[in-house]
Amino acid sequence: MPMLRFLTAGESHGKGLTGIIEGMPSGVTISKEDINRELKRRQQGYGRGGRMKIESDEVEILSGIRWGKTLGSPITLFIRNRDWDNWEKAMNPDEAFEGTHPPLTKPRPGHADLAGLLKYQHIDIRNVLERSSARETAMRVAIGAVAKQFLTNFNIKIGSFVTGIGPEEKQVETAYLDEEELLKLSNLADTSPVRSPWKETEAKFVEIIDQALQSGNTVGGSFIVFATSVPVGLGSHVHWDRKLDSKIAMGIMSIQAIKAVEIGDGVLLGKKYGSEVMDEIFYDKNKKFHRKTNHMGGIEGGISNGMPIIVKATMKPIPTLRKPLKSVDIFTKENSLASYERSDVCAVPAASIIAEAVLAWHIAEALIEKFGGDSLEETKTNFFYYHKTIMEENWLKHPKIRG
Ligand SMILES: Cc1cc2nc3c(=O)[nH]c(=O)nc-3n(C[C@H](O)[C@H](O)[C@H](O)COP(=O)(O)O)c2cc1C
Repeated sequence: MPMLRFLTAGESHGKGLTGIIEGMPSGVTISKEDINRELKRRQQGYGRGGRMKIESDEVEILSGIRWGKTLGSPITLFIRNRDWDNWEKAMNPDEAFEGTHPPLTKPRPGHADLAGLLKYQHIDIRNVLERSSARETAMRVAIGAVAKQFLTNFNIKIGSFVTGIGPEEKQVETAYLDEEELLKLSNLADTSPVRSPWKETEAKFVEIIDQALQSGNTVGGSFIVFATSVPVGLGSHVHWDRKLDSKIAMGIMSIQAIKAVEIGDGVLLGKKYGSEVMDEIFYDKNKKFHRKTNHMGGIEGGISNGMPIIVKATMKPIPTLRKPLKSVDIFTKENSLASYERSDVCAVPAASIIAEAVLAWHIAEALIEKFGGDSLEETKTNFFYYHKTIMEENWLKHPKIRG
C-alpha cells in the first residue's frame, strides 16, 4: 500500500464530490485559495459547455488541516455541486424518490454508458454516467493542488501546455528545453484560452474548435505536462509496480478521454537510432553527473534521473455529440440516436490542468515513499541528507573499490 493515498467519491449531479488524502505529513502549509485557483484553471478553456458557466468550484476543507497547516491526519475535501438544487429529486439517495426522473436508454458511443450498464446490470444509463463523467476530475485537481503545495517545499514545480487540437499539432522538441524554458511555456499557456504558448497555433486551435462547434461535432488533441527540480532517485527499477513511469502513465491514462501517454520523446523514439536519442552522461565538479539532452523525459529504468519529467498525452474527441451518433435503445432494441446531455466541444486545455494535478500527486507519492517522515520537517531533513550524500559521493570513494 502506498504511504500517500487518496480516494474520491461523488456523482456528477449528486450533492458534491468528496476526497480523502491519507499519509500527508504534518506541518505542510495548505491554502484554500491555492486549491480554488487550480479549480478555476480547470474550469477555463475555449470549447467548454454550459456547465462550466453554472459551476464555480470552491473547496471546503472538512478535516486534517488546522490553522493553515496539515495535522498528519486524513484530509477531507468537499466540493459542492452548485446544480444540486435542480437534481435533488433525480439523484436523491432516498428510495421514496425512485422514478421521479425518466431513465436514459440510448447509450453514447465512446462513453462508459453501454459497457457500464451491462457490467453493473443497471436499467438507467444515468447510473453509469454520473460517475464516469469528468466532473470527478474537479476533486482530483483539488487533491493535486494539495500535492503541489507539498512539493513547493522541495522546489518542485509542475506545468503544462497544449500542443494539439484536432488535426493541428505543434511538434515540440522537449529534449532540448531546460526548466526555465518549460516553465515559461506553461506560464504563457495560462494566458491563452486554449493553453497554447504560441500565438499562431492558438488562432488555429480556436478555429478548429469553432468549426467543430458549428457542425455539431467535437475534437480532441494533445498536451505536455512536466515537473521540474525532481531529485534523482524517485521510483525504482527493482519491481514493475515501483517504476515511476508506470505510475505516472497509469495516473494520466486514468483521466477521462486520455487514450495515449508518452514519456519524453515517446512514440518518436521508436523511429530513431540509439545514437540519436540516448541522453549521454557528463560529469563536472559543480553539476556532478548530468545530461545535456532529455529524450527519456527524466526517467530511466523507472527512476527519476534529475532531468525534468516530461509526459505527453493524447485526448480523444469528446464522445457526446450535439449531432448524435447511431445507437440502440436498451429496452426496445430499436436503432436510435445516442442521448445528448449538455456537453463540451473540446476539453483539452482542462485535461492539461487535470494532468498537472495527477503528475503532482505521483511525484509527491514517490517523494514520500523515498523520504518518509511523519512531519514535513522530518521529510525535509531526510531529503537534505540524501541530497548531501549524492553530492558528496562518499560511497563511491570506498577504499576497496578504489583498490
Ligand atoms: C475535462 C474533461 C471534460 C470532459 N467533458 C466531457 C463532456 O462534456 N461530454 C462528454 O461526453 N465527455 C466529456 N469528457 C470525456 C468523457 O468523460 C470520457 O470520454 C468518458 O468518461 C469515457 O471515458 P474514456 O474516454 O476514458 O474511455 C471530458 C473529459 C475531460 C477530461
